[in-house]
Amino acid sequence: CPHLPDGFDFTDPDLLQSRVPHPEFAELRGTAPVWWCAQPTGISGFQDDGYWAVTRHADVKYVSTHPELFSSTTNTAVIRFNESISREQIDVQKLIMLNMDPPEHTRVRQIVQRGFTPRAIRSLEGALRDRARSIVDAALAEADKNNGTFDFVTNIAVELPLQAIAELIGVPQEDRTKIFDWSNKMAAYDDPEYAITEEIGAEAAMELVSYAMNLAAARKECPAKDIVSQLVAAEGEGNLLSDEFGFFVILLAVAGNETTRNAISHGMHAFLTHPEQWELYKRDRPATAAEEIVRWATPVVAFQRTATQDTELGGQKIKAGDRVGIFYSSANNDPEVFEEPHRFDITRDPNPHLGFGGGGPHFCLGKSLAVLEINLIFNAIADVLPDLRLAGDPRRLRSAWLNGIKGLQVTRG
Ligand code: HEM
Repeated sequence: CPHLPDGFDFTDPDLLQSRVPHPEFAELRGTAPVWWCAQPTGISGFQDDGYWAVTRHADVKYVSTHPELFSSTTNTAVIRFNESISREQIDVQKLIMLNMDPPEHTRVRQIVQRGFTPRAIRSLEGALRDRARSIVDAALAEADKNNGTFDFVTNIAVELPLQAIAELIGVPQEDRTKIFDWSNKMAAYDDPEYAITEEIGAEAAMELVSYAMNLAAARKECPAKDIVSQLVAAEGEGNLLSDEFGFFVILLAVAGNETTRNAISHGMHAFLTHPEQWELYKRDRPATAAEEIVRWATPVVAFQRTATQDTELGGQKIKAGDRVGIFYSSANNDPEVFEEPHRFDITRDPNPHLGFGGGGPHFCLGKSLAVLEINLIFNAIADVLPDLRLAGDPRRLRSAWLNGIKGLQVTRG
């Protein structure tokens, strides 16, 4: 039996606001790797009494790669919402591919991945390298105005992911802060600092869908060299319908912004608390660094699936309809797979972490873009601000599923 306090819930937003529960994950991996956590999701009018917490690397992979046993459609990828969400709001989320199963998911994924080919991502590299440099130059100017001190998150970490998504989907410069605002409202609904309720989140989502649909209509009329133009060129077989496109942009805004931002913030924090790794990075710029940053940060702590039939997992019987939480954070620190998992080592190789998912059909579509962004931003920081130091503890996001940092004060020299 695991030794966990009564009522312990891995998706409690108050818990994640203070820390990632690594000791509790270790306890479960050792004693009850598939453990029933008796906590409701908070969806009103919907029967649910808890979820299975899956904590070993091998089991997280197994669930991810067996969509016929573990569905993404019955519920949603997010395990726990706050109390005000309704069944209808949950149903709308099924229009997002993250919450679809094959064959529907396969059809949408085949279309949208055209925008993420290695060639498509390479074509963004030059513009993003310039962006990364100008973001870090601007942070340097900010530091000079404030005795060398500035907030790393707002000045650096949020900027490149936002510009990358905007570049990818061809959002004009003057509209880019709107995308930032909408994606914050949608993903950070558990944090009172943003004072955001589910309703505001849902409103923001609708505004973004209609913005994206207008963009799609404009590109159809007058095609440009972005993925919007490609994905909606001729509506019909093999292309996205305008509303499908709208929901895809929602997913990109949340999946591409919140995740990469937190990988960059945690990465900087890790470098500044492991100065020898920062020295190593500045000297060698190892190609393995970005993957270790994502393993270390694991911005998405967990997603969920729902069992489609009675089955077994890690020696535990699972009933049809049971919810299953797959904890990437725990898998990424599983000593069965990672030597000294709590060591930040930017030369770690191989590094089969599950920060981008467990390798199934939903495996992160934006992985190569995220890795490119992480490399570009740390290269620019190493060139322009090589002498950063921490000037305070990170301020953590209150969330049921994101390992987020809202603020990180740093100083020069
Ligand atoms: C899916 C993590 C960056 C787009 C996912 C999943 C995870 C993840 C855990 C779910 C995988 C699964 O269920 O098996 C991350 C992390 C990132 C990142 C940690 C940054 C460090 C991005 C970026 C984009 C993106 C930059 C796009 C611009 C997506 C999309 C999906 C996805 C579209 C859904 C794929 C599907 O359902 O088929 N990501 N992601 N992600 N990600 Fe990422």
